[in-house]
Amino acid sequence: MLETLQFAQQNHQNYVTELIEFLRIPSISTQTDRNDDTAKAAAWLAEAMRNAGLENVQVIKTERHPLVYADWLHAGQDTPTVLIYGHYDVQPPEPLELWESPPFDPVIRDNYIYARGAADDKGQVYIHVKAVEAYLKTAGRLPVNVKFIVEGEEEIGSRNLYHFIAENGALLSADSALVSDSAILGKGKPALVYGLRGICHIQIDITGPGRDLHSGSYGGGINNPLNVLAHIIAKLKDEDGHILIPGFYDRVRPLSDEERELLANFPLDKGAWLKETGAPTAWGEPEYSLVERLGARPTLDITGMYGGYLGEGTKTVLPSYAHAKVSMRLVPDQDPHEIVELAEKYIRSIAPPSVTVKIETADGSQASLIDRDTAPIRAASAAYEATFNHPVVFMREGGSIPIVERFESGLKLPTVLMGFGLPGDRIHSPNERFYLPNFYAGIETSIRYLDLLSRAK
Ligand code: BES
Ligand code: ZN
Repeated sequence: MLETLQFAQQNHQNYVTELIEFLRIPSISTQTDRNDDTAKAAAWLAEAMRNAGLENVQVIKTERHPLVYADWLHAGQDTPTVLIYGHYDVQPPEPLELWESPPFDPVIRDNYIYARGAADDKGQVYIHVKAVEAYLKTAGRLPVNVKFIVEGEEEIGSRNLYHFIAENGALLSADSALVSDSAILGKGKPALVYGLRGICHIQIDITGPGRDLHSGSYGGGINNPLNVLAHIIAKLKDEDGHILIPGFYDRVRPLSDEERELLANFPLDKGAWLKETGAPTAWGEPEYSLVERLGARPTLDITGMYGGYLGEGTKTVLPSYAHAKVSMRLVPDQDPHEIVELAEKYIRSIAPPSVTVKIETADGSQASLIDRDTAPIRAASAAYEATFNHPVVFMREGGSIPIVERFESGLKLPTVLMGFGLPGDRIHSPNERFYLPNFYAGIETSIRYLDLLSRAK
C-alpha cells in the first residue's frame, strides 16, 4: 500500500490537470439543452475509468441522462465487494455575474480549484477513480472487489437510477456502498455523515383573471393571484419555522436521548458558520438546537416565486397568474408522496374560490439514517484518522443524496458517506470550489479505506 500511496502523491499534478478537463464539461442535468454535455461528461468519465484499468466500463442509456458503470472483480470471492457511487451532473451555475471566474473554466486560486461541480461532485468522484488507478498501476490489483455506479441525475432526484436499481439490482450487488458527496467539518477535521434528509417539491400555480387587467378599472373587484399566493405561503409555516400543514409532523421519528447527546456535543463553530452564510443571525425552531435544526428536523422553503411585472419602474396591473416553488426537506420516517398529498390538500383548503389553483409535483426522496456500528464505518473512521491524524466526528447532513436510502433499505448495503468537501465550498452557489489538499487527502483516504475494508470485521 505504501507504494500505492507514493504513486498517488507523485501524480497530484496530473490528477488536477485531468480534473480540470472533467470540470470544463457543463453537465447541468436540469437543463435539457445541456443533454449533449451530460452525455459528454459520462463518456469522459468512462474513458478515464478505462485508462485507470477498470473493466466492463459501460455508459448505460436511460430515459434521460446516462449512467456510468465500471468494475474490477478479481480480488477473490471471499473478499468484500464495494459499490462506489457518485454523480457527474451539476447544478445550474446562475447567477453568472457573481462568479469571479467562469463556472466552466476552472481556475486555481490559493489551493482551491474554482468551478461548478468541483466539490459537488466531480472532484469527489474522481478521488476514487484515481485511488483505484494507483493500486492497479502499482500492485496490479485491488484489495477488494470494486463496482462503480456514477449517475447524471442526482441533482434532479435520481429517477432513472431508481428504475435501474429496481430492474438491474443484481449488477450492483455488493457488500457495502461508498459515497463521497458530502463535506468534512473543516480543514484537517474528518467527518462521517450518518444522516441525510429526504426531499419533496411542489409548485403552486395560481390563476386569476384570464389576462392581466388594469389595476384601477378592475382592482377591488377581482382577486389578485399574487396576493392570494402571499396569503397561502404565509399559512404554510409560522415565523419560528413550524410547518402548519396538518399531519406534516405525524411520522417524524423523535430523536433518541442518545442522539440528542451526540448532536449536543457536535463541535459546530457557530460564529464561523454564521459568517460563512453572510446572514445577520441564525434562525429556526426555538425548541431545537441549531445542529438539530440543520440535519434532524424537517423544513419547508420557498425556493422561487414569480408573477406580475418585474421590469423597471411601475406598472399598474392585476397579474393573471402567480407561481411559487416550494421544497420540503424530510427526516425519517416521513414519506415524500404522503407529504406532497398533505400539502396539496391543505393548500386547496385555504385557497379562495376567486382563483384556480394547480399543484405540480417533482420527484422526491426518503431520508436516510445509517447505522454507525458497522465494519465499513469502522474501516472508514480508521482510514480518515490515518490520513488526517485527527479523530472523526459523526454528523447528520441537512442536504439530500436521494439514492442512499435505496442502497441502505433496497440493496441492504451498509453505506459509508465519506466526504471530502469543506463547509465553505459554496456548492450550488457562485464560486463553488474544492480544496486541493482535500482532493489529495481524499485519494489517500480512499487507498487506505479499500485496504482496511478487505480486512474489516
Ligand atoms: N452533495 C449534495 C448533498 C450534500 C449537500 C451533502 C451538502 C453534504 C452537504 C448533493 O449533490 C445535493 O445537492 N443534492 C440535492 C438533491 C436534490 C436536488 C434531490 C440537494 O440536497 O439539494
Ligand atoms: Zn449537489
